[in-house]
Formats: sequence, C-alpha cells, structure tokens
Amino acid sequence: MDNSSAGRGAAVARIGIVSVSDRASRGEYEDRGGPAVKAYLGEVLTSPWKATTRVIPDEEDLIRATLAELADEAGCCLVVTTGGTGPASRDVTPEATAAVLDKELAGFGEAMRAVSRPHVPTAILSRQTAGVRGSALIINLPGSPKAVRECLDAVFAAVPDCVDLIGGPRLETDPDRVRSYRPH
Ligand code: MTE
Repeated sequence: MDNSSAGRGAAVARIGIVSVSDRASRGEYEDRGGPAVKAYLGEVLTSPWKATTRVIPDEEDLIRATLAELADEAGCCLVVTTGGTGPASRDVTPEATAAVLDKELAGFGEAMRAVSRPHVPTAILSRQTAGVRGSALIINLPGSPKAVRECLDAVFAAVPDCVDLIGGPRLETDPDRVRSYRPH
C-alpha cells in the first residue's frame, strides 16, 4: 500500500517506480514488475511514502529522460526500475541508468546477482546496476515479480542509510521484514 497518511507531519518520501517493457507499455500484457515493487515497499516501509509510477518502452532516451524527471523534478528520493536488464538487444535499462548517474554504486548489482544466483542460474544474465543522481538513489531490478522480491531483499537494509546520506527523507522499515542498517 501507499501509506502516505501514516506518520502525520513526517516528510512524505516520493518513490519512483519505472517499469521498462515494450510489451507492457503497448498494453500487450499486464505490467507485473511495477506492482511487485509497490507491494514490496508497502510491506517493508513504515514511514509515509507515495509512489509515482511509469510504464515505458525499452527506449534508451526515454528511460534516461524518465529517470532524470523523477529524480530532478518529481523529487523522488528513490527510483526503482524493473525490466530491461538482460542481454537481449532491446535491454538497455542499465546503459540508460549509468548515463544519468552522478555516482555508480556497483555493490547493489553485485549483491543482487550474488543473492539471486542460488535461486536461478540465469541471475548472471542481469546487468542491473544502481547509483545516485542528485538526491535520488536509482536501483535497477529485473522484470519478473519473483526477481523483484529476491533482489530488493538482498539490498534493502542499506537503502535508508543511503537515502540519509544523499539528503533524502528518513525511511523507516518494519524490522520484522527488513532491519535497516544505519551506521552513520
Ligand atoms: N534474479 C532473480 N533474483 N530472480 C530471477 O528470476 N531472472 C534472471 C535475471 N535475474 C531472475 C534474476 C533472468 S532470466 C534474466 S534474463 C535477467 O534477470 C534479466 O531480466 P530482465 O531483462 O527482465 O531485466
């Protein structure tokens, strides 16, 4: 859920969810990655947040423009993409992401692939990355809902601290789901 009414008075964190898929953007099938990200955040975050969602085709220019708009204009502290991370010719989400980042955080992709590999041998096909643009943390996920959950579980403990460090709102998590690690 969007618990944007929770924590009266606290800053509402804006979170961008970008589904990158030619077919979902044409309405040929239902986007399942974006809703999986939203459901995960609803389970894990206890501080107020609001999702801004987009479903766009695998076009590098459009992905770049969408990520920049969500980070710079919509004021998102976190932008999560789903889909387009594989080796096929239309998979260009990591390239588009790298092009808009100020700093790459390669550990996110490394951790997600490492955790995913025991689940599926094809985890190594995902070129997913992450990094910072201004005050936004951008994270790539694969397109499948199962992958979304496995990958977010692999990295989410570090997300609130990263958002603190880049000047975003304080994100709180349900410790029974994800125990945030805040060394700073
Ligand atoms: N990671 C996890 N955790 N679980 C998965 O099922 N699927 C893999 C991989 N990473 C998968 C995963 C597969 S089959 C592919 S092709 C790549 O992610 C890229 O997926 P994408 O093109 O939808 O981004």
